Amino acid sequence: MILNGQSPDAIAQAVQALSAGALIGLPTETVYGLAADAHRASAVAQIFSRKGRPSTHPLIVHVAGPDDVPRFAQAVPVFAQQLIDAFWPGPLTVILPRLAGVAEVAAGGHASVGLRCPSHPVAQALLLACREAGMAGLAAPSANRFGQVSPTTAEHVREAFGDELLVLDGGACAVGIESTIVDCTRSAPVLLRPGGISRTQIEQVTGLAVLDREALATPDPQAPGTLLAHYAPKAKLRLMDAKALQTALDVLGPDAAHIAIWSRSTLTTPAKGVTVRPMPAQAAQAAQQLFATLRDFDHLGARLIWVETPPPDAAWEGVSDRLQRAAASA
Ligand code: TXA
Ligand code: MG
Repeated sequence: MILNGQSPDAIAQAVQALSAGALIGLPTETVYGLAADAHRASAVAQIFSRKGRPSTHPLIVHVAGPDDVPRFAQAVPVFAQQLIDAFWPGPLTVILPRLAGVAEVAAGGHASVGLRCPSHPVAQALLLACREAGMAGLAAPSANRFGQVSPTTAEHVREAFGDELLVLDGGACAVGIESTIVDCTRSAPVLLRPGGISRTQIEQVTGLAVLDREALATPDPQAPGTLLAHYAPKAKLRLMDAKALQTALDVLGPDAAHIAIWSRSTLTTPAKGVTVRPMPAQAAQAAQQLFATLRDFDHLGARLIWVETPPPDAAWEGVSDRLQRAAASA
């Protein structure tokens, strides 16, 4: 059932459900999560089974604040602390060496742990209430089935997991794509997944060059966010520049139905039956609308989704990454 996340009663119910070992739907500023007490192995195991996710793919542990980091991490390198100080609460996950014996199942058995402190007021209220109740962290992946588009509203979570799941409604997510993930277990930050915090911001705060996952000799561990066929809408998605889009439209015959387009450029004489949605000119707005737009296109029954290639700058890296993955599974 969906409950208003701003109500203290709803928060109390969610804490109770979590302490009883149940899962809940959690709003964050990035996407909604499917949460469980990070310390309770049986509850965390349910996340993997309900999501259909392999149990070796580690989950992010959400904490109320930086004070909770020492409960999970063995050590915090200087550059990781700089990132935490600069971007928490917010859309940044840091991967740190894990304290032995802690949140083993959530970490998928890996020697590291991903930690994030979300800024969404409902997530904050819940995490503080959980801490009071003796639960220091919530393990939560995005609340979608494995490989599908991430949820940005409470309704999306209900569609995926049904009405039995308690979902705290926190409105539409402001960031709209998952957090930036930075591996802090090596001597320099490694960008595992681009998101709301850009590579440029990370470099400014740490004074270090950000490495790419591909540049590593021993990439570890296989992260689902890095699988190509991820974030897939049902329709086939293609990325094209404005010129190619216009050309494709120009040669469409009369049977152009079931094509949906998301573009920043204005396209002329779109054929009848083609749905065109404007992509915002700002990366942050485009990110906010991305997953909901793909879902809308699916609901409209689009057979093909054509998206204008985003600009190549750092601010657009998260959006480009999700679109490339969606296109790769087409
Ligand atoms: O914005 C977000 O991060 C959302 C919200 C709910 O907080 N969560 C999210 O979780 O996107 P999920 O499980 O869908 O993606 C988590 C990513 C995966 O790619 C996972 O492999 C990676 O984080 N990850 C988690 N712990 C890790 C670790 N110890 N080492 C490497 N990657 C890790
Ligand atoms: Mg996910």
